[in-house]
Amino acid sequence: MRTFTTRTGATMPVLGQGTWRMGEAASRRKDEVAALRLGFELGMTLVDTAEMYANGGAERVVGEAIAGCRERIFVVSKVLPENASRQGTITACERSLKRLGTDYIDLYLLHWQSDHPFQETLEAFEQLRSLGRIRHFGVSNIDIEALRQLETLPLGRLVAANQVIYNLQRRGIERNVLPFAAQAGMAIMAYSPLDQTRLAIKEALTRVAARHETKAEVIALAWTLRHPHVVAIPKSSNPRHVQENAKAARIRFTAQDLAELEEAYPPPKRTIPLETA
Ligand SMILES: NC(=O)c1ccc[n+]([C@@H]2O[C@H](COP(=O)([O-])OP(=O)(O)OC[C@H]3O[C@@H](n4cnc5c(N)ncnc54)[C@H](OP(=O)(O)O)[C@@H]3O)[C@@H](O)[C@H]2O)c1
Repeated sequence: MRTFTTRTGATMPVLGQGTWRMGEAASRRKDEVAALRLGFELGMTLVDTAEMYANGGAERVVGEAIAGCRERIFVVSKVLPENASRQGTITACERSLKRLGTDYIDLYLLHWQSDHPFQETLEAFEQLRSLGRIRHFGVSNIDIEALRQLETLPLGRLVAANQVIYNLQRRGIERNVLPFAAQAGMAIMAYSPLDQTRLAIKEALTRVAARHETKAEVIALAWTLRHPHVVAIPKSSNPRHVQENAKAARIRFTAQDLAELEEAYPPPKRTIPLETA
């Protein structure tokens, strides 16, 4: 599996696994844990979760999945904006660590912009980092203006990643957020890389998939990875889908593949505000 290293020295596989909607029902828990473990075996050793998902339930699922293989896994979690005060961030992180059954988080993100000033959250992140509770920190759903503002703060250059929506039909970040992050050496973590199953499967996508003897979703996922600063985190609780998704990292596009996808799914012609899920 190809890896990406951020300007802060965080090395992560470019293909990981999401966990939104996991941990909501006890009846599905065994399958969710098994799907994540299968993904780990197939090289998708980054797992993305958040205190928000199922009110901590997803972090518990992750905790079960990483038990016994913690050191091999790059764990990402997120603090809710309302908890992102100086002290609130610390206590939220401690709660997450407990649910995850680990003593450190590899990358801890602010889930979206908070009413608490960035500086306060960054100071809390830095304290957690100096205590070894987190290894790196970053943000999510942050648009270009706020990203630029962050960069000017004393701890701003320690921001390792911005997790944002990115897929074939939501390409707004290519105009600003993606080049900014690439220039700075941050990872862009592409969430909803399959647009939560809302991806329109156009003829060009089917054609490219046929050429690579795979399905449209795998091509859509592989397409997000064509940019060297993008790390994608598809979610799946279905072992067949997990196996398919893992193959995306091995797809090598031809110029013709990329040109056909570009024509079928063009980026926006104008700058648009950052989209969310
Ligand atoms: N930072 C944020 O604000 C934010 C927002 C949204 C998401 N995220 C993170 O990003 C992760 C991924 O995004 P997402 O969950 O929104 O959407 P997604 O990964 O684009 O799509 C997930 C959906 O696609 C299906 N799927 C997965 N692989 C498939 C395949 N090979 N073929 C067909 N269907 C497939 C899944 O169903 P099955 O489970 O049945 O496979 C699920 O219904 C989340 O889980 C979460 O960790 C972050």
